[in-house]
Amino acid sequence: MISKLAVTHKKIVISGATGVLGESMTRFLAAQGAQVIVLGRTQSKVDTLVAAINDAGHKASGILADVTRKEDLQQAKNKLESDFGHIDVLINAAGGNMKGAVITPDQSLHDVDLEAMRKVIDLNYIGSFLPIQVFLPLLEKSENPGILNISSVSAHLPLTRVMGYSSAKSAIENLTQYLAVEFAQKMKNPIRVNALAPGFFLTEQNRELLTNSDGSLTARGETIIKHTPLGKFGNPEDLHGAIQWLCSNAANFVTGTVVTVDGGFKAFSGV
Ligand SMILES: NC(=O)c1ccc[n+]([C@@H]2O[C@H](COP(=O)([O-])OP(=O)(O)OC[C@H]3O[C@@H](n4cnc5c(N)ncnc54)[C@H](O)[C@@H]3O)[C@@H](O)[C@H]2O)c1
Repeated sequence: MISKLAVTHKKIVISGATGVLGESMTRFLAAQGAQVIVLGRTQSKVDTLVAAINDAGHKASGILADVTRKEDLQQAKNKLESDFGHIDVLINAAGGNMKGAVITPDQSLHDVDLEAMRKVIDLNYIGSFLPIQVFLPLLEKSENPGILNISSVSAHLPLTRVMGYSSAKSAIENLTQYLAVEFAQKMKNPIRVNALAPGFFLTEQNRELLTNSDGSLTARGETIIKHTPLGKFGNPEDLHGAIQWLCSNAANFVTGTVVTVDGGFKAFSGV
């Protein structure tokens, strides 16, 4: 008998699957027996990850799409439909910050680049909404469908500098709750919609902000570690347990929630 916690045989699409956190969760889910579908923008990166997972004896295939382009996603949906018929879980892990949407200590609100703001909201918010909208018919064909959005600890209490990113992640949490209710009220077999809010994980996106070229912490990196009761950055593997739970049937009564994995960052007042 397959345990409720298993993700075995689930068909799981992961956007941003070739990113640092995305790749870690994709490899993990494949190793747990899921059929993972790596969604990315760059053919060579998608192919490399798919080959590595298949070479390890697990099941992966790839699909190309920019998550902010509806026509790309429509084509991806058609391919997913002909290859798999349905999907069980969609993980929206494509996302990130952009330089111009940041206010550095020597800048003011006037320095914010509107184009960069639009891009960061487009990538993080629209880039989660659109795959949900386009892949909805495939999820509706699953026996036990689920969506997992990726938020951030900056969604509730915005971090300094990253204004656009914090706003976009906040909007993702609101969308998560909205859709959880919308689907529960209108679908016979409701798609569960949850979000994961990682704390600080050292990745390419934030490495320059948190560490110096010699690997020592920047002042911001030090502030974060001091404010994290567990006293360290997270490792991508620290997200695996929450991902397994939220993608599996063990979370059948869980929808509209945000699971935080942050070493206690959000719980600490600083005193
Ligand atoms: N790293 C952290 O500490 C941290 C903390 C909280 C939340 N997050 C969130 O976790 C998610 C993954 O972050 P990461 O650190 O692995 O970042 P990353 O930059 O390593 O990966 C992001 C991935 O998204 C892809 N991507 C970007 N734009 C895209 C587009 N338009 N279409 C399709 N794919 C696109 C990139 O190619 C990359 O593969 C993001 O949503 C990020 O905001 C990260």
